[in-house]
Amino acid sequence: MAKKAFITGILGQDGSYLSALLLRRGYKIYGSELPGASAWRHAELGIAGKARIYTGLKGFESLRELFGRIKPDEVYNLGSQSSVRNSFARPLEAVESDAVGTARLLEAIRRATPRSLFFQATSGLIFSGPGPDGKGRGGLMPQSPYACAKLYSHWLTLNYREFYGIFAVSGILYNHESPLRGENFVTRKIAMAVAGIKKGAKKPLQVGNINVRRDWGYAAEYAEGMRLALAANKPGDYVFATGKTHSVREFIEAAFRAAGMRVLWKGEGLDEKGVDAENGGTLVEISPKYFRPHENKVLEGDPSKTWKAIGWRPKTDFEALASMMVKADSAVLKRNRSAKDVEICIRNQKNAGFVNRII
Ligand code: GDD
Repeated sequence: MAKKAFITGILGQDGSYLSALLLRRGYKIYGSELPGASAWRHAELGIAGKARIYTGLKGFESLRELFGRIKPDEVYNLGSQSSVRNSFARPLEAVESDAVGTARLLEAIRRATPRSLFFQATSGLIFSGPGPDGKGRGGLMPQSPYACAKLYSHWLTLNYREFYGIFAVSGILYNHESPLRGENFVTRKIAMAVAGIKKGAKKPLQVGNINVRRDWGYAAEYAEGMRLALAANKPGDYVFATGKTHSVREFIEAAFRAAGMRVLWKGEGLDEKGVDAENGGTLVEISPKYFRPHENKVLEGDPSKTWKAIGWRPKTDFEALASMMVKADSAVLKRNRSAKDVEICIRNQKNAGFVNRII
């Protein structure tokens, strides 16, 4: 009998990669999404229409009824209000989606299918980041409504494991990116802009704080880590990260390098600009619009225990990741006709999936 997996946030970046890899392994895939979410990522991966997707799941009872019917072998909780910036603007949404949503799922499992294995996508942002010596991940100290909600879910997952005996895993995921990343996250925003500028778009890339450092890995490999975590003999908590950090500034430089261009930095603070080393044209501007009320300046995970426990470690390095993303967005733009189309794409960055949908 084929194994059955239920994935929340099934049309998102991680949900899409996970669906694709579980389908390849013969699973039947079920999942949930917000009404109106676009299936462009499933189309990109060639799996459109292969998963049964529920968009109208309201509340605990409908979830319990559904789990009782489907009896999923594995449940992956990847659905989330995943943008830290949005969580500052709409904190209640973060609580509802990233905290209460997890409680609902765990309770539905306990009541309807207690033998289901459960994976909770927790975030590296539950930690404070390194101390003054620049080392370590710091203590548990969420610093955004998003991270507070994720920390609640982390602890609840451990509680259901310890006190109810559910096979429940908390996967502490650091930043993971790909050509399927949402356009409001910094790496994809940069990749799209660089692809557009290379094709002739005139509008510079506008970003916020470029000195923050993140631990960036390739999302498809993190989805494989989620599967491995549930394939282990016993449940645990695992860090998914590369163990290396780079600044947003370095990602911008790597992305332009992938497009055969070089950025030089001029000025300071909000007046700093990235200019084209060849012709002096402005490529990057700093905008206060993209600064946050609070910032984790450095986020670095240590995946060494995860390697020992479940045999997972990332393979794609930083330079290869930036290059893959720029190439993917360049390929999409190549199919457009003129630089004007490119300008329109960049202007519509907020409209998630826009570039991919117009091809
Ligand atoms: N989004 C965005 N847009 N971020 C910018 C910009 C910009 O224009 N300019 C600078 N940044 C900085 C942010 O301030 C942040 O420090 C960093 O770039 C990365 O931002 P995001 O890509 O939005 O990701 P994040 O680090 O806040 O959160 C991601 O990683 C977490 C795990 O570490 C998300 O995927 C979270 O859901 C995830 O938990």
